[in-house]
Amino acid sequence: MPVACDPQEIFSHLVDNHPAMPIERNVDLSRFNTLGLPGRAAAYQKITAAAQLVAITSGDKRFVLGGGSNLVLGGDFDGLVLHVGIPGKRLLKGDSEAFYVAAGAGENWHDFVQWTLQQGWPGLENLSLIPGTVGAAPIQNIGAYGREVGDLLHSVSLWDFAKREFLTLDRKQCRLAYRDSVFKQEGWHLSGRMVITEVVFRLPRLWVAATGYGDVAQELAAQHVATPTAPDIAQAISALRQRKLPNPATIPNCGSFFHNPLVDPAAAARLRVACPTLPQYPQPDGRIKLAAGWLIEQAGWKGRRLGAVGMYEKQALVLVNHGGATTDDVQRTMAAVQADVVRRFGVQLTPEPVFL
Ligand code: EPU
Repeated sequence: MPVACDPQEIFSHLVDNHPAMPIERNVDLSRFNTLGLPGRAAAYQKITAAAQLVAITSGDKRFVLGGGSNLVLGGDFDGLVLHVGIPGKRLLKGDSEAFYVAAGAGENWHDFVQWTLQQGWPGLENLSLIPGTVGAAPIQNIGAYGREVGDLLHSVSLWDFAKREFLTLDRKQCRLAYRDSVFKQEGWHLSGRMVITEVVFRLPRLWVAATGYGDVAQELAAQHVATPTAPDIAQAISALRQRKLPNPATIPNCGSFFHNPLVDPAAAARLRVACPTLPQYPQPDGRIKLAAGWLIEQAGWKGRRLGAVGMYEKQALVLVNHGGATTDDVQRTMAAVQADVVRRFGVQLTPEPVFL
């Protein structure tokens, strides 16, 4: 069971220092979602300290917003949007085996990763340049280039609106899986039941470079780096991402739009015969992960668009807003891509972002 902390003891002294931010009405959300979809929030409040959550007593409809980089906005939201901006990063302790580093949920993920590297605490380098906030990272167990945040997660602290207490979930209680966690499995992220306030990472002193992923090895070789340090890997991965993935500031998007589908071995074997070049990745549970980007490209969707929404020309897994898109436009392109992939390969793609 989650470990309960005493909010009185831990947080009451913070309340005076961090008065609640005002509730704003009819707030434009288009600037708070990287896909740039239109929508307004009936009410909006920025949260800059965990203690401010205790004062929120209304049972209103809520949505907890982080960086908005994995979100498909469904138009106007008639409840309260809590925008998590809790700052702070610090070393909690270092023992002979690891550094334990805590970060406020509102910290920018990439900035936090670079800060840990500057301090000499390697481990998170493969996750450089992933958009979003620290608090959102465990929700979908962000991952890239052979690492997932779950590999280095220690615990997650949160405010539970239903129990009205602060809780800390350890790594096991987070039930992390491929782009999945207890927060998604239980629907807590959508119902606004909980707000993640702080995340603690355990970064082992015994560092092993994760450069097995083909693209990373190639990039390092191209840069003539034979024995890479963690900052070298961060740099190579940042360069890779900048080349392959669209920058939301110029081409609005929310990263990979579909999961890489997991299929059973029989389906994988059938596809191996029909499509020998389809990348397949065996998983520990016996299932096979397929490259959704390959399936989408082969179904003719790389660089193709339906009105304002299309699949990116350099990475078919990323859905982009070419300007002025609505949620309906996104739904239409998503459904068309899914239908074509099913027709062509018999594989159902599921969307990765959260739909509000
Ligand atoms: N591929 C194609 N065509 C495409 C895109 C990909 O054929 O248009 C093929 C590639 O050639 C490669 C394979 O598909 O053989 C896998 O592609 P890639 O290495 O680019 O990774 P991905 O599976 O498309 C995943 C994550 C990304 C993460 C990268 C790198 C998911 C859903 N996506 O993408 O995460 O950055 O690996 O590790 O797991 C995100 O979640 O938002 C995200 C960007």
